[in-house]
Amino acid sequence: MKSIFEKYDLTTEQAGAGAGEAQTGSGDILHSISPIDLQRLGNIRCASTQDYENIVDRAVKTFANWRMVPAPKRGEIVRQIGDALRDHKKPLAEVISLEVGKIRPEAEGEVQEMIDMADFAVGQSRMLYGLTLHSERPDHRMYEQWHPLGPVGVITAFNFPVAVWAWNAFIALVCGDTVIWKPSSKAALTAIATMKIIWPVLRDNGLSDGVLNLVIGDRTTIGGRLVQDTRVPLISATGSVAMGRHVAGAVASRLGRTILELGGNNAVIVAPSADLDLAIRGIVFGAVGTAGQRCTSIRRVIVHKDIYDNFCRSLVHAYQQIQIGHPLDEDVHMGPLIDRQAVAKMQAVLKVLTDQGGRVLYGGEILSDGIFDSGTYVTPCIAEAGPDMEIVREETFAPILYVIKYDDIGQALRFHNSVPQGLSSAIFTRDLQESELFLSQRGSDCGIANVNVGTSGAEIGGAFGGEKDTGGGREAGSDAWKSYMRRQTSTINWSNELPLAQGIEFGSG
Ligand code: UN1
Repeated sequence: MKSIFEKYDLTTEQAGAGAGEAQTGSGDILHSISPIDLQRLGNIRCASTQDYENIVDRAVKTFANWRMVPAPKRGEIVRQIGDALRDHKKPLAEVISLEVGKIRPEAEGEVQEMIDMADFAVGQSRMLYGLTLHSERPDHRMYEQWHPLGPVGVITAFNFPVAVWAWNAFIALVCGDTVIWKPSSKAALTAIATMKIIWPVLRDNGLSDGVLNLVIGDRTTIGGRLVQDTRVPLISATGSVAMGRHVAGAVASRLGRTILELGGNNAVIVAPSADLDLAIRGIVFGAVGTAGQRCTSIRRVIVHKDIYDNFCRSLVHAYQQIQIGHPLDEDVHMGPLIDRQAVAKMQAVLKVLTDQGGRVLYGGEILSDGIFDSGTYVTPCIAEAGPDMEIVREETFAPILYVIKYDDIGQALRFHNSVPQGLSSAIFTRDLQESELFLSQRGSDCGIANVNVGTSGAEIGGAFGGEKDTGGGREAGSDAWKSYMRRQTSTINWSNELPLAQGIEFGSG
């Protein structure tokens, strides 16, 4: 563990603000605590308000130059960033495991997600397409083009401490924007290590500071300032619905733009024709992966009554095989929750669940003794619940899976769509009509809808995001890049006349 921190020179006090390799930081001290054993991993001197001002000032000034670099050249720099991440995949993943408790394969998957995103962005840098339009006037041409937008504020959560930043940052870079990153305070060292890998790439390309910027600090000192900052035209934020409402209000009141990726309450419908083995495997990964701390984690499984008992038996059996332990140990499927508060919240929710008539079928206990002394390890929980229970409508960021019984597909869809959130969804079925209904406009109301695949583990090539309380934003692939640019519609008159649109005759007779 020590060696990884030495590799990234993280053993001494770190400065939590930087516009390039020279980091600064004159704010409060933040301790990075590992959820594995509650040991301190390092100390970070956060960005002060003055540091924040300096960084944003730098990001604004640098934007003026960065936007002039041709987009494919910007893409070439992102390609080099992707290569640097390839070289650092394993050690950076270890930092992630130690700081947020992800098991090694998932931490490496997260770095791979950054690499994939870099590759995608390189291609996108040559595909910032606008339309050519036919004018209603003779010898006129219309077209639309996409210009860089400005510095983009990116606020990320602990659970995907770097991949979600990469979704935003790499697209923003090829779009000609500079980036101001406020990572989660629970993943500050991971953010610093990431920038230590990437800043040298920018330097080696002769770029001045201010292209990729880091500001670590709490919600009020840094987060609040960033969302209200009129110099930052776009805020992309990942976190709770409560946080998102606040960000949405603050940014809307200054008529800025937001991309919000907030809570999910993702469900899987398991139909009678489902391949049960496939469904169980998909559900276990979706519900237990990242210890149930993904926005895309499966929180509800809606099972047809004819297969319900059999399904529950098989699921409990699968959960009994889950190995819980140190996230860097081989064969471990689930590490700790992020902190003791998350464990306490999980326990409180299970109490409410039983008060509301739910029943725990498996797990939900806090582990103790030996390596579990930290009080951050739990057994993943399966609980029987009613579709209308208040607690089932909430997203609890913990490995609790509610099992709900249904009679017919119409009812299953009603249960499915009855929650406030709308991020990801899935159905396991072999019935074409059912799967098509699920994907139709009267089917799933989520931003992501899958068939015979769980709700988590989306590929970066698709647009990622959701509806309703999930916030409506889209990040990563498809045409999500358009949110990071400003659209300009142009009309060019190459005639010797001045015909007006809508056939207006003005002052001619
Ligand atoms: C998140 O939990 O905020 O689809 C992002 C997934 C990952 C990203 C999750 N690719 O589960």
